[in-house]
Amino acid sequence: MTQSNFKALVLAQEDGGTVSALQDISTDALPEGDVLVRVSYSSLNYKDGLAVTGKGKVVRRFPMVPGIDLAGIVESSEAAEFKPGEPVLLTGWGVGEGHWGGYAQMARVKSQWLTQLPEGLSPEQAMAIGTAGFTAMLCVMALEEHGLDATAAPVLVSGAGGGVGSVAVALLSVLGYAVTAVTGRSALHDYLRGLGAQDILARDRLARAAKPLDSETWAGAVDTVGGQTLATVLSQMRYGCAVAACGLAGGVQLETTVFPFILRGVTLHGIDSVMCPQPHRRKAWARLAHDLPKDRLAAMTQKIALADVPAMAQAILKGQVRGRVVVDVNA
Ligand SMILES: NC(=O)c1ccc[n+]([C@@H]2O[C@H](COP(=O)([O-])OP(=O)(O)OC[C@H]3O[C@@H](n4cnc5c(N)ncnc54)[C@H](OP(=O)(O)O)[C@@H]3O)[C@@H](O)[C@H]2O)c1
Repeated sequence: MTQSNFKALVLAQEDGGTVSALQDISTDALPEGDVLVRVSYSSLNYKDGLAVTGKGKVVRRFPMVPGIDLAGIVESSEAAEFKPGEPVLLTGWGVGEGHWGGYAQMARVKSQWLTQLPEGLSPEQAMAIGTAGFTAMLCVMALEEHGLDATAAPVLVSGAGGGVGSVAVALLSVLGYAVTAVTGRSALHDYLRGLGAQDILARDRLARAAKPLDSETWAGAVDTVGGQTLATVLSQMRYGCAVAACGLAGGVQLETTVFPFILRGVTLHGIDSVMCPQPHRRKAWARLAHDLPKDRLAAMTQKIALADVPAMAQAILKGQVRGRVVVDVNA
């Protein structure tokens, strides 16, 4: 491969803090890997917010090109499964944390981290979904495998105005479930109804201490918030139903009792998107390409340039970003 330069957002540590800058980088400087990808789009997730601002201990070495997601075209490949010109996507695997990630026009990665772009999705749509949407699908699949019943009570989605939440609301409603969306932002009610939410619940209704067993309300739940919200949701689950827990936007502590588990047979499914094995990944992406209506995906997505990422990273940690953010690394 001949050496060439490309643009990247680079994180460095200065005076104990994290600073970011757009830089021109040579492909020679890219980390090891058997596939070189010409990146078309990346995305912004909560974890990217933590990485870029340095507010979470997400980045494991510096300098780092952050961006936990990328989609693009294979430029060159030493792996038999991936041919030059093929469209691919990548989410997770520690990319953007310990290995240079998607906030760059080029990325060199390990072939086992790559997923072929599913039929029916463009690279831009794949990044509109990104880690957040992929995680929402993993939550939905976990609830389905548990036996979620579309004729039963409503399904709750917390942090509904965020990335995981917005995709979960859209997916569950299109699959026929009655969705109750939990949000702290009254300005998002129309937006959430537009994605398919049947009811809206104010965030503070769940973010306060509840009885160990509250009235049986939810047939299933996707929780992106954690903390007190998750504890309250567990106490309100119907008999034998499940919560898919994936997030910590409201806190990492979980103070609960065993009563929902031992008296109501409630199940708490932990959802991890980062190390999710490829066969399950491919299944989830195929489902996303098929089930998630493209008009609802477009309605929840905004597009920014690489230079806009640092400001947007601050905003997502403050809970000010609605839905999903695609990063056009070539803008
Ligand atoms: N397990 C995994 O593999 C995995 C993958 C992706 C994401 N996650 C986690 O899932 C969560 C959501 O990720 P995301 O990318 O969707 O982030 P996001 O777009 O920032 O969404 C989070 C949403 O949570 C709500 N929220 C924020 N602060 C809150 C608080 N203090 N109390 C209650 N609700 C609060 C807000 O929604 P409203 O304004 O509508 O209330 C916010 O939009 C994050 O914690 C992220 O780390 C985990």
